[in-house]
Order: sequence, then C-alpha cells, then structure tokens
Amino acid sequence: MNVLIIGKNGQVAWELQQTCPSHISAHALGRNEIDITDPQSIELVIEQLKPAVIINASAYTAVDKAESEQDAAYLINATAVEYLAKAANQHGIRLLHISTDFVFDGTKNTPYQVDDQTNPINVYGTSKLAGELAIKAHCPTNSAIVRTSWVYSSHGNNFVKTMLRLMAEKDELNVVSDQIGCPTNANGLAKYLWQLAEQDTLESIYHYSDLGVASWYDFAVAIQEIAFEYGLLANKIPIKPIPSSDYPTPASRPVFSLMQQSSTLNNEHWRTNLKKMIVSFI
Ligand SMILES: NC(=O)c1ccc[n+]([C@@H]2O[C@H](COP(=O)([O-])OP(=O)(O)OC[C@H]3O[C@@H](n4cnc5c(N)ncnc54)[C@H](OP(=O)(O)O)[C@@H]3O)[C@@H](O)[C@H]2O)c1
Repeated sequence: MNVLIIGKNGQVAWELQQTCPSHISAHALGRNEIDITDPQSIELVIEQLKPAVIINASAYTAVDKAESEQDAAYLINATAVEYLAKAANQHGIRLLHISTDFVFDGTKNTPYQVDDQTNPINVYGTSKLAGELAIKAHCPTNSAIVRTSWVYSSHGNNFVKTMLRLMAEKDELNVVSDQIGCPTNANGLAKYLWQLAEQDTLESIYHYSDLGVASWYDFAVAIQEIAFEYGLLANKIPIKPIPSSDYPTPASRPVFSLMQQSSTLNNEHWRTNLKKMIVSFI
C-alpha cells in the first residue's frame, strides 16, 4: 500500500517515517516536492504515487506568529486542506488529517468529547477548525481528523527541547501553571495514525494524546526530573509556577484543553512517554 505523507520535516511526519510498518510503502514529501497550496501540484503527485492513503502532517504551527500572519496560517491550515480533501475524495484516497485541542475555547472543566462545541480563541485554532470543516465538506467519507495536543518529538522544535536548553542555561525558570492539557509524544501518535491508515472503517473525528493531565509547569518539572535522573542535566534549577497573566503572548490559549481519548489502547501516561523520548537522547 502506498501512503503519501505531507510535511516531511515536521515532528509527526518524521515519527511516521520512523514507525512505518514494513508492509507499507511510505512517501514523505516536503514543500519542495509538493505544493499543497496548488491543486495541480497535488494532482501531479497523486498521479505519480497513486497513494491509497494521504496523511497530512503539514501545518502552519506557529501559534503566536499566526496572530499577525493570518493569511499564511489560513492558506496552509484551511485552503490547502480543502484542496487535499477535494483531491482525496475525487480519487477515492483515504485522508488522515491532524488537528488540535486549540479548536476548543477551554471553558469546560471536564475532558472535551469529539462532538463538543468548537470555539477557537486564537487565529491558529480558527484556521485549524476551518481545515476540519473543509474535510467534512469535501471528503466526508473515508477520512478522519485526529485532534492531538502539546506534541513533542526528539526531532524538531518543541517545549521539551526548549526546556532542556533553558534548564542548562538559566539559574531559574518561571513556567505557566494555569493552562491544563496533556503532552503527546509524536512517536505514539504516529503509530496510532498507522493503525487508522489500515482500519476497515473510520469515525470522522478522533482525540489522541498521551494519558493523564498536566499543566506546562508540571510538564517542565517532569522534564527536569527525568533529564537529571538520566544525566542529561548536570544540576537542577528552581522552577516557579506562574499564572498566564505573568507571561503574556500574542495568542490567547485555552486554559483547559484536556480531551477525552477515543481509545486508550496502546497508549501510556505522558510521563512514561516523556521518559522514552528523553532516554533516546542518551
Ligand atoms: N506541535 C504541537 O504541539 C501540536 C499540537 C496539536 C496539534 N498539532 C498538529 O499536529 C500536526 C503536526 O504538527 P507538528 O508538530 O509535526 O508540526 P511541525 O513540526 O511544525 O511540522 C509542520 C510541517 O508542515 C510543513 N509545512 C508548513 N507549511 C507547508 C507548506 N506550505 N507546504 C508543505 N509543507 C508545509 C513544515 O515544513 P517546513 O519544515 O519546510 O517548514 C513542517 O515540516 C499539525 O497539523 C499540527 O497542527 C500540533
């Protein structure tokens, strides 16, 4: 089975390439090989590769920058997704698309269900929701949207790697403690996507993150504890919990974005998965 992975150099795309089952032929393309903002470029690649499945792991993911680059965020997260959805539908190709906990406003205090009301509070979330709606409108069958949260990987830029750098450089750190969600190791997410690629039937939306609950402060404390335990940090520094109001950012973020998992099969607590990622650096 041929599978086209879009967004070759991203965290999830990279983990998809690492975890691809041996009986699947994965073709990961970056922006130099496919221009998803151009329907003709999409057609050409489909003609050449004849994929049975497209996994769209590309996105405009700079949450704060999106506030001032709305057009760029919409082009990749909504317009290009519409082109992909139309092409997948026309050719009978299964489309797996990744979305975000940021489609919710964070006003709930129990985990978000797949059919809960969406109400994004920043440009990134609004553009990702537009992408979800494009898939529902243009490729309603044989497609799935997988919402995930707080993604990190040993490849690419993310909170874990930023924290490890700052913990080695600084004498102390302040980390936001009033935003609640769940970290997700992209490696497990990739394995989940491979399962969906081959499943007989699909739901329209899935929620996948690691198990448990955390604030960014909890996440940072765990990163330091595990990195210190495995010798990646020479010493520990004080980490202070602060409110979001003390760390203003261009984009507002939901204060609570925990999602009810569609399946907890084959997944583990976020701290267990964090340890696997940090240990991979040794
Ligand atoms: N990161 C998170 O915390 C998080 C949380 C929830 C949901 N998600 C979702 O998970 C998915 C994967 O995220 P990720 O963390 O793996 O993202 P990432 O590491 O930022 O990778 C995104 C990829 O998209 C590619 N891309 C951007 N614009 C493109 C274009 N015009 N044409 C082709 N490729 C383009 C980028 O290419 P270049 O490398 O060339 O720039 C990059 O490789 C996204 O849908 C994201 O919205 C992420």
